[in-house]
Amino acid sequence: MLVVIENVLSADEAGRLLARLDDADWGDGRVSAGGIAADVKVSEQLDDSSEIARQISAELVPRLTRHPKFVSAALPHRFFPLRFGRYREGGGYGTHVDGAIMSLPGSPDVVRSDVSATLFLSPPGEYEGGELAIEGEFGATEVKLSAGDLVVYPSSSLHQVMRVTSGVRTVVLVWLQSMVRDAAQRGLLFDLDQSIQRLTNDGADRDEIMRLTGVYHNLLRRWSDV
Ligand code: NI
Repeated sequence: MLVVIENVLSADEAGRLLARLDDADWGDGRVSAGGIAADVKVSEQLDDSSEIARQISAELVPRLTRHPKFVSAALPHRFFPLRFGRYREGGGYGTHVDGAIMSLPGSPDVVRSDVSATLFLSPPGEYEGGELAIEGEFGATEVKLSAGDLVVYPSSSLHQVMRVTSGVRTVVLVWLQSMVRDAAQRGLLFDLDQSIQRLTNDGADRDEIMRLTGVYHNLLRRWSDV
């Protein structure tokens, strides 16, 4: 399941973040790519321990955990600190799958990556190429979003960043351990929750909505590990 969420940040907020990130100390993106993934990754990223990365991560994670559609799609349990990626002309990231277990910087703890998300900061008119292509049940989907929009997808899916042929593409990368490990179960819960929201907004029968809400919570009780 692939879910696009518009306006997680306003275009202005995305622009201000880009300006802050411009002055940051960017390094080679291959440091965090293991094995053969490093061979296909051409990008820059901020060191996980850099002050600006930590600051912006601390600002954005609460925005995500307060966003109803993000919570519904990802059911977040534990976040890996947000990471910041920049792709210049010639940059890209060939087909790969995200590592399953991620070590938290400066800690013996680990986070299992169940859900990945990319928050686009650069306006799409400012670079050519750079689509995020995600393989799913019915083939690959290419995603290139407006500044401030985000796409949520299973960390288990094969994906790639198409080569940037001009301009600069800057994104925020999100990985998290979900309360529900299985992508298909998360997809069912998301569909059910979205239908309940629509029925509620349409003023449907309250008792029936409560019954469906009960089904939602009882499925979550069966499927979550927290
Ligand atoms: Ni990836």
